[in-house]
Amino acid sequence: MAESMKGLKRTHRCAELNTANVGENVTVMGWVQKQRNKGGIIFVDLRDRSGILQIIFEEADCGSEYFAKAMKLRSEFVIAVEGKVENRSGAVNENLATGAIEVRANSLRILSESETPPFPIEENSKTKEELRLKYRFLDLRRPDLQKNLMVRSRVATLTRAFLAEEGFLEIETPTLIKSTPEGARDYLVPSRVHPGSFYALPQSPQLFKQLLMCSGYDRYFQLARCYRDEDLRADRQPEFTQIDMELSFVDVDDVLDVNERLLKKLFKEICGYDLQLPIQRMTWKEAMERFGSDKPDLRFGMELHDVSDVVRNSEFAVFKGALENGGSVRGINAEGQGHMPRKKIDALVEFAKGYGAKGLAYLSIQEDGSYKSSFAKFMTEEELQALVAAMDGKPGDLLLFAADKNKVVFDVLGALRLEIARQLDLLKKDDFKFLWVTEFPLLEYSEEENRYVAMHHPFTMPMEEDLALIDTDPGAVRAKAYDIVLNGTEMGGGSVRIHQSDIQEKMFEVLGFTKERAKEQFGFLLEAFKYGVPPHAGLAYGLDRMVMLMVGADSIRDVIAFPKVKDASCLMTEAPSPVDEKQLEELGIEIVSQEEEKQE
Ligand code: AMO
Ligand code: AMP
Repeated sequence: MAESMKGLKRTHRCAELNTANVGENVTVMGWVQKQRNKGGIIFVDLRDRSGILQIIFEEADCGSEYFAKAMKLRSEFVIAVEGKVENRSGAVNENLATGAIEVRANSLRILSESETPPFPIEENSKTKEELRLKYRFLDLRRPDLQKNLMVRSRVATLTRAFLAEEGFLEIETPTLIKSTPEGARDYLVPSRVHPGSFYALPQSPQLFKQLLMCSGYDRYFQLARCYRDEDLRADRQPEFTQIDMELSFVDVDDVLDVNERLLKKLFKEICGYDLQLPIQRMTWKEAMERFGSDKPDLRFGMELHDVSDVVRNSEFAVFKGALENGGSVRGINAEGQGHMPRKKIDALVEFAKGYGAKGLAYLSIQEDGSYKSSFAKFMTEEELQALVAAMDGKPGDLLLFAADKNKVVFDVLGALRLEIARQLDLLKKDDFKFLWVTEFPLLEYSEEENRYVAMHHPFTMPMEEDLALIDTDPGAVRAKAYDIVLNGTEMGGGSVRIHQSDIQEKMFEVLGFTKERAKEQFGFLLEAFKYGVPPHAGLAYGLDRMVMLMVGADSIRDVIAFPKVKDASCLMTEAPSPVDEKQLEELGIEIVSQEEEKQE
């Protein structure tokens, strides 16, 4: 029994009504959250995206026919109600925006009925995420997800307005493009017209936005869909959205300046947070040495200490070995955790091993000044005292040390620092600590590929003062690249681009590209650069990550309407899925099953 809404017009959303509307006749429409039949009175909580409104049905007001209909209402029925706004007859509900009023119904239409949903539609759902994702259309009715998507919409609107005001043009770039792998794997799309050829879905609009600068558009932005076939985590999706921008005739400071003002505006309007400008800057090197991470969480201290020199002459084989292999010994001081029981410390050792550590050496300083330690027996009293002093250790503190190659030491202590902060509940979601990380290395050595690869992308400009090192010591060259980090999450990143063909050629050479391969992959960009290219630079935010941080969600899935799960599938539509033989034939594609492949 689905009635039409003919002749009715919604006058308000549920939670748009308040005591100022008392006495008005209104028409509201939405979903039944709950129906309670109290004998002669029926209460209905009506829900729409604005919130919940109490409707009251009494036979004396609405007549027996409507009253009978109201008796039949169940959760998630869609209804239309005409009635009068009144002060609430019962106790005022402080938890509800509309808690001081109710609507006394004089008519009711059931616009559609609902089967019993597989889980209740309520805030802070305890239902397993898998079930919620399968019924995402129902999950999306929940107020917390609705709030997240409303924030997301507002961020997009504010961003557009701000950037337009700053002279940026919104320009779309294609999403069926040439495959130019940038770091992650490309998603490929087969061409029907050109059998055996493929488009790629863009990992970002990078090359096109640089071309737009060549074409004189000066300041570009786009809310761009990006696709990356990489291992998923809580802050990664195979398709996601960037706030992407590029500017001409600028250097690092210009890009950071306009973005600081954008961030200030967004966090003020959305979170009511007053971001103090300028945002703190830290070089990549300092970030690694102090926090063991290129995206340090500045909401707490527990910084790394390099104690290599202090322990250099000790007899502890673990420390000695690491130093002899060109590594380092570094530690963190978990202040006040000296009482941590052995079992918990062992769990931290296992945690560290998950990040590549061979072990984790600890020393807890007892209140009486004595030590409990996994390695004290290998060191003299003087050495221990020097070590404790270097760590600012006090009675009651727990010192944790990693000894290995620098990269492992940073990874382990960087992760450990966060884990301990998590255990101690130091990470407050409404505390926003912004940081620019600058001067990233231009290149990083890939053991896998046995060559240098670009840390950001091959078009990133080296720092002028390091250019001379590019042949002799490529790993030491710093880039004009920057990331914006918020509470330990890389929210965005960008760089100044190379606009000089000699430097670009050099870069390709260092990356091991032949001239032919560079031309084949990036020919159109190199060609464009021959005809007058302005100096340019840009940046892109992960919009999903930004909104996740703003609303304090634990995963970007909570700020994306229809997200995918860990294996990159959609539980609701069941994508990806096999396709018809005919479709494959048209594309000239044959599927070889893994078994067949093995047989051959
Ligand atoms: P980058 O690769 O650093 O730079 O990406 C920019 C930002 O996009 C977000 N991001 C993601 N968000 C969700 N899921 C993912 N899989 C994912 N991957 C990246 C991050 C990241 O900081 N073209 C350059 C930008 C530039 O140089 O202007 C680029 O794409 O928040
Ligand atoms: P062992 O002599 O191997 O029993 O190690 C003594 C202590 O050093 C133990 O607490 C180990 O967990 C720790 N340890 C082992 N390897 C490392 C390492 N690479 N860095 C820090 N501590 C380590």
